[in-house]
Amino acid sequence: MKTILVTGGAGFIGSNFIRMLLAETTGYDILNADSLTYAGNLENLADITDDPRYSFIKADISDPVSMEAVFNLGPLWAVVNFAAESHVDRSIADPGVFVRTNVLGTQLVLDLSRRYGVERFQQVSTDEVYGSLGATGRFTEETPLAPNSPYAASKAAADLLCRAAYKTFQQPVLVTRCSNNYGPWQFPEKLIPLMIANALEDKPLPVYGQGENVRDWLQVEDHCRAILQVLEQGEPGRIYNVGGDNEWRNIDIVRLILHELDKPESLIRFVKDRPGHDQRYAIDSTRLQEELGWRPRQDFTSGIRATITWYRKQVAWLAHMRDGSYRDYYEHQYGKV
Ligand code: NAD
Ligand code: TYD
Repeated sequence: MKTILVTGGAGFIGSNFIRMLLAETTGYDILNADSLTYAGNLENLADITDDPRYSFIKADISDPVSMEAVFNLGPLWAVVNFAAESHVDRSIADPGVFVRTNVLGTQLVLDLSRRYGVERFQQVSTDEVYGSLGATGRFTEETPLAPNSPYAASKAAADLLCRAAYKTFQQPVLVTRCSNNYGPWQFPEKLIPLMIANALEDKPLPVYGQGENVRDWLQVEDHCRAILQVLEQGEPGRIYNVGGDNEWRNIDIVRLILHELDKPESLIRFVKDRPGHDQRYAIDSTRLQEELGWRPRQDFTSGIRATITWYRKQVAWLAHMRDGSYRDYYEHQYGKV
């Protein structure tokens, strides 16, 4: 058995990745290290907590003492670094914590991985490091980095630290840059779960500007499979874009959600635009498709329907996420630390 350290495994994508590893592979044990910020919820993993291949440790990736303790639980074959502050609007309100976790935290995990001889280090990055597109074109791995939000800048900084670790120390580092994910267990501050949650309660749906901004949407399990494939087969030092070839204007996504939920468009509220709001993201994932044979499996129409149905059934989870009471689960499950 090889052990994979997953940082940030109690968040949206990390929890889906852990569940996928347990369901679809047999050769890995998983150690999940997460500091359980507002976005980290162990309820996301409640169904697999007792799996003998899975264990959890509460640790902050920017804290050397707790991270050394995590690495001492090894030997670790690989590290997949999901842990991050991930919400653009929060980064506009308070950039400092984004630098601490996303930049300093990534450097610390890189350093420890090198010191402990970890064989593969994968940084889970974002297409937002490339900045914004006009009406045409797509980001390739050669597109210059031009981040516009503090979140994107902190992720770009982490990507460059990964590059430096590879160039300077020949550390076996891989970077994936993915477009916007949707699916189960996403914190309801991001566009799709926020709109579903508000619509379910007949609350207004806040659309920034005129809703003309465009995002490329990928089902989270397709992203998780890409991460695993790059981890197992990718070439160290290489960057892999991950995307869905699935561009949508925000307003059209919001209308689709209302339509699926049989709610009126009168719930839409056009509100003040996000400062520095990137106009359009579109990603070219030819490298990943041609070199590693990855393809998205989930088509968007059925994927978004399944996601809406999932959130409809998660009334308690949604309520816990929104009122913060999910944090009680940790004490109940693990006691006070
Ligand atoms: P999320 O906010 O849902 O989860 C982040 C997790 O990291 C949480 O469990 C949180 O508790 C944990 N965390 C935060 N700070 C930490 C710290 N200092 N130490 C340890 N754990 C910490 O985010 P997500 O949407 O699951 O994103 C995961 C990763 O994927 C991030 O690196 C993000 O930049 C990247 N990404 C996200 C998307 C997307 O659409 N959500 C797209 C591309 C890339
Ligand atoms: P978000 O889910 O925050 O992802 P990101 O900014 O990382 O792409 O936002 C997706 C798009 O939806 C983005 O263009 C901003 C827009 N948006 C709204 O219009 N209203 C909202 O309340 C939120 C959270 C986002």
